Amino acid sequence: MPHLRSDLITDYDRLADTWWDPRGPLAPLGWIARARAQFVPPATRDDARLLDLACGGGLFAPHLSGKGYRLTGVDLSQLSLREAGRHGYHALARADLAQLPFADGTFDVVTAGQCLEHVPDPYGAVAEACRVLRPGGTLIVDTIADTRLARLVAVTLAERLPLPGRPERGTHDHRLFVNRPRLLRTACSNGVELELHGLRPHFREGIGYLVGRRDRVRMVPVRATGVLFLGVGRKR
Ligand SMILES: C[S@@+](CC[C@H](N)C(=O)[O-])C[C@H]1O[C@@H](n2cnc3c(N)ncnc32)[C@H](O)[C@@H]1O
Repeated sequence: MPHLRSDLITDYDRLADTWWDPRGPLAPLGWIARARAQFVPPATRDDARLLDLACGGGLFAPHLSGKGYRLTGVDLSQLSLREAGRHGYHALARADLAQLPFADGTFDVVTAGQCLEHVPDPYGAVAEACRVLRPGGTLIVDTIADTRLARLVAVTLAERLPLPGRPERGTHDHRLFVNRPRLLRTACSNGVELELHGLRPHFREGIGYLVGRRDRVRMVPVRATGVLFLGVGRKR
């Protein structure tokens, strides 16, 4: 099993001031958060709870306003949690995806956005996400596939080309990228049948962003799930 880079969380602490910078190294996470929110169903009861795993600086929270959930965020980066605290979470906790401090079946929705590709055991983290999800609840995960194309796009190109919104070099370790069949099997054996969707940036908006004409880019759905993909499913 590959190891987590020992300085990964320190890096997110160091970058905590940049979470909301529309041209900073974490900017594309905001575009993906917006796309993820479209898969969150409106709450169907008064005390519905959503858990945002590895919430980082809280980029997801504003996209959930009006959906009716009480939001909980967890992350290991203390300074990112502090930033998230300014953006609408009802509760925040410093916790590891591998071992969540919540009882079984606590949440109506659990999301794991752009974090499974950073942990040594993403399948264990998915099992843990399913554990804290109540029957009938929705699981949403988005991450990077363990393909050569994803390595080219997310590591070789995205981290090296001198463009705005570029992740820092070393952000991604391709050995941690997620195997889709194993992800599906893990979720299924923990009660959730996931359906996968590919995502990519809207081309014209992406060009507009690169030339400085716009501050954010829509992510659009694609059939191919071999680079960036999102899985969504309900727990039996
Ligand atoms: C790429 S960021 C994604 C943040 C957020 N989900 C988003 O999409 O904007 C990855 C986040 O995972 C967090 N993280 C990494 N390993 C973690 C772990 N084992 N447990 C909890 N959080 C972790 C980092 O601190 C960082 O905030």
